[in-house]
Amino acid sequence: MSGSLNAFGHIAISDELVTFLRTAQSVTVLTGAGISAESGIPTFRDSQTGLWAKYHPQELATLQAFTQNPDLVLDWYRWRRGLVARAVPNSGHLALAVMEQCVPRFTLITQNVDGLHARAGTKNILELHGSLQRMRCSAANCKFSLPDWPEETTPRCPQCGALLRPDVVWFGEALDPHVLDLAVQASRSCQVFFSIGTSGVVEPAASLPYEALRAEATIIEINPQPTPLNIYAKYSFLYPAGQVLPILAATVWPDSS
Ligand code: OAD
Repeated sequence: MSGSLNAFGHIAISDELVTFLRTAQSVTVLTGAGISAESGIPTFRDSQTGLWAKYHPQELATLQAFTQNPDLVLDWYRWRRGLVARAVPNSGHLALAVMEQCVPRFTLITQNVDGLHARAGTKNILELHGSLQRMRCSAANCKFSLPDWPEETTPRCPQCGALLRPDVVWFGEALDPHVLDLAVQASRSCQVFFSIGTSGVVEPAASLPYEALRAEATIIEINPQPTPLNIYAKYSFLYPAGQVLPILAATVWPDSS
């Protein structure tokens, strides 16, 4: 079923969906870069602007790139941290924080490293791909991590002397197995699974909606572009998340929005 426009040209939420969500006991949400697009953070598969237009994220977000040219990779992450610091959570992030307050069991799984869900007030967040906020030691056998970035241009680990790196998952790297395990459990045990603002092409996150589907959850997708998941979604809203989510929250939970 597709989300449609009502007679006033507004996004319409069907009575059936309102009743269903009001009585839902457990909701799991997966977000991707699209949820932060309306906060001015470019999505991964958008072209980059300015200084970084000549680089692909895939060329910079790798251990190989960091090993070959740490200053270049750290400068790119500093640029992204600057964008995020100037950004504010948008109405989509805020509506998900409202949803968490209204649903008995709520888990938000995000592929984003921008921290905007936490700044919007959501509490139960699984950051699958890490966080731009933190740094950690790049040596495989060293567990040192820092909650913020130090001032130095190319900071080194105070314990072992190796370079510090952003605490994010790079292409070709494994996810934190504990975080991934919690995400799989939350996907397998929910009644409703929202997929919001993700192209659904990067594993293992891309498989989570299918885990939910196998466990007979109802899939709801919000993305202006249809993705491979679209045909499995019982409800699909082909509109920006910052437009759909506030209307959805205000219609389903009018006293909390
Ligand atoms: P992508 O850049 O692949 O996809 C962004 C999705 O957001 C697209 O499907 C857009 O159609 C959609 N979109 C754009 N604007 C939107 C809006 N206002 N509301 C809702 N949706 C919108 O980003 P991800 O799917 O997050 O991983 O990419 C997944 C992973 O690929 C990233 O976490 C990153 C990258 O490789 C790592 O760095 C490990």
